Amino acid sequence: MKKLAAENVRAVSAEIIDAVINGGQSLDAAIANNEVRIAVDDRPLLRMLSYGCLRYRWQIEYWIEQLISKPLRKRDRIINSLLGVGLYQLYKLNIPNYVVVSETVEAAKKLKRKELAGLVNACLRRFERENISKLEIEDEQAKWNHPSWMIELIKKDWACNWQEILEANNKRAPMWLRVNASKCTVDQYIERLSSVNIEAYKIDGFDNAVCLKKPQLVSELPGFDSGEVSVQDAGAQIAAHWLLKDAKNSVLDACAAPGGKSSHILEIAGNDLSLVSIDINQSRILSIRENFRRIGKTATILEADASKPEDWWDGVKFEAILLDAPCSSSGVIRRHPDIKTLRRLSDLKNLSNLQLTLLNKLWDLLLPGGTLLYATCSIFSKENDEVISVFLSNHDDALENKLLPNNNIRDLMIKKEYGFQILPGLLDLDGFYYAALKKIEK
Ligand SMILES: C[S@@+](CC[C@H](N)C(=O)[O-])C[C@H]1O[C@@H](n2cnc3c(N)ncnc32)[C@H](O)[C@@H]1O
Repeated sequence: MKKLAAENVRAVSAEIIDAVINGGQSLDAAIANNEVRIAVDDRPLLRMLSYGCLRYRWQIEYWIEQLISKPLRKRDRIINSLLGVGLYQLYKLNIPNYVVVSETVEAAKKLKRKELAGLVNACLRRFERENISKLEIEDEQAKWNHPSWMIELIKKDWACNWQEILEANNKRAPMWLRVNASKCTVDQYIERLSSVNIEAYKIDGFDNAVCLKKPQLVSELPGFDSGEVSVQDAGAQIAAHWLLKDAKNSVLDACAAPGGKSSHILEIAGNDLSLVSIDINQSRILSIRENFRRIGKTATILEADASKPEDWWDGVKFEAILLDAPCSSSGVIRRHPDIKTLRRLSDLKNLSNLQLTLLNKLWDLLLPGGTLLYATCSIFSKENDEVISVFLSNHDDALENKLLPNNNIRDLMIKKEYGFQILPGLLDLDGFYYAALKKIEK
């Protein structure tokens, strides 16, 4: 652990940003690895700076190019990240400018770049003096704060909505909760929140979802420890209702960790339902166990590869299968702005191959008459409609079931050629794609 930087939140944030941009780490992992170095009271600021800088990365880099005449040496690139931290504070945060400048200059010294402290000081002062944040931005990546491949793909897939998608991706996501239907109703829980001065609201068509007007620590939520409520975007809460529309006895959740949708299934299903939740990732399996323990429910949990049922399946077919497939997560960029930095266009080919393999393999595990619900938190057609189109063309015993779990959600889901899409930001939901595939009884 680098002791010198330990107490300086801006220096540690610069190191986190560097670990994501240049080290390929996920933002969550980089924060988890580093936040212990920071006083507990400073941790919210650490998160805010690190999330903000990655959210506005391209705009910040565009400004830095204008502020620095000669690029920094590779070994000093940490100062680029620190300058980003400074610019982001001046641009977005309500911290007095003189504090931002002096603290960021101090951070340069903590990062052992005393000789560059003057440069940091000059850049931040010039940014303010010349009102650079108000100047028109020509560069498209900087204007939309996305890499160009992503902008192009979103334009191609969403010719009429691409601007609203890019804008929504750059906003902060609200905190959605799922109320445990086996313990209380949404109205009862909203009242409980109100009694501890937490404001919240519900929306039509979502029986278990509550949105907080201001995010809270889960430890502040009444009944969180006893499983009365969990954190889950309302868009993700569509899956369990859809899946249980026709299934009462046996369900497979094939990519289950950390167990959000499995937990929801258990909360709303009758006692006769037997659920098998599998995931390939051992550490994420632990989160499934912990979630089930907290909500007080049980199911069969297996650490297994869904694409190799021969290794774990007992041969008894399921009434319904949820395939919440691994994907680019392009629908949840507002929650994970590092996706814009970490994803590559070339990832999509591998992901869509994996998605199709999983679909093909799991199809054999479904009873005739049963439904497989394919879901992704992606907005890219390559991972959604294009996968379903290939699957349907190879399976004459499959057809899309276009019936939604309830009518109220019809207005917010866009009907694609095969599935339904919720775009990020609409009604403050994350972006999700769903396609229900019914197995024809022959
Ligand atoms: C989108 S996440 C699932 C989220 C989960 N359904 C929820 O609601 O909490 C995708 C999951 O698929 C898992 N996964 C990826 N490849 C897999 C495979 N071949 N077999 C089983 N699980 C897999 C990943 O470990 C990851 O946990």
